[in-house]
Amino acid sequence: MIIAIDGPAASGKGTIAKKIASIYRLHHLDTGLIYRAVAKAMLDAGHSPDNGKEALAAAIALDPANFDEAALKAPAVSEAASVVAANPDVRQALMNYQRAFATKPPGAVLDGRDIGTVIAPDADVKLFVVATPEVRAARRVMELRARGEDTDEHEVLADLLRRDERDSRRTAAPLKPAPDAHLLDTTHLSIDAAFRAAVDIIEGVRTGRKRR
Ligand code: CDP
Repeated sequence: MIIAIDGPAASGKGTIAKKIASIYRLHHLDTGLIYRAVAKAMLDAGHSPDNGKEALAAAIALDPANFDEAALKAPAVSEAASVVAANPDVRQALMNYQRAFATKPPGAVLDGRDIGTVIAPDADVKLFVVATPEVRAARRVMELRARGEDTDEHEVLADLLRRDERDSRRTAAPLKPAPDAHLLDTTHLSIDAAFRAAVDIIEGVRTGRKRR
């Protein structure tokens, strides 16, 4: 089974994806980490994230076995990630790894921006997770503060909106729901309620299939 979970920044898709993968015993890939890793490699080497040639080289050289998740989640990396992610060559270079991951038995949950539209268009279930920008910013602030990072809520909100806009407007695999995606609005849901709503959708699709 392949489950695609897409949505804008800090919508809760990662948390839902992890829990879904755990109960269905599927592999999980946070595809944002891949773009973040390319971005961090660029920043570490002193390259501008919009240097297409260097970004492609960094994407080709990527080793997902060596990801330092905490370092990749830093806000400076988020912004650079959305710049490198707009580069079609970078996306193309990272496609095979994601597709191979998705089809690894017994299946996988992948979260990102283009899983249901580009990486796994034949996924068994597609969720598009949304929440209002204010709620997403508040969640991201809590997450960053829990990791000891001093953050300003207005700055976080501005960062989310800027990235959403860039991610939605790019021509290469823009952020948008697949036509057959199920919308899940987590604005008023706790983590647990969002997870249960996701399970309901997945079970609905699975039962519907069995009946046919
Ligand atoms: O955790 P958050 O939602 O803030 O971001 P993320 O999922 O780690 O993604 C970071 C950036 O990578 C996004 O702003 C996108 O530009 C890019 N990305 C993408 O283009 N395609 C994906 N499948 C995943 C992430």
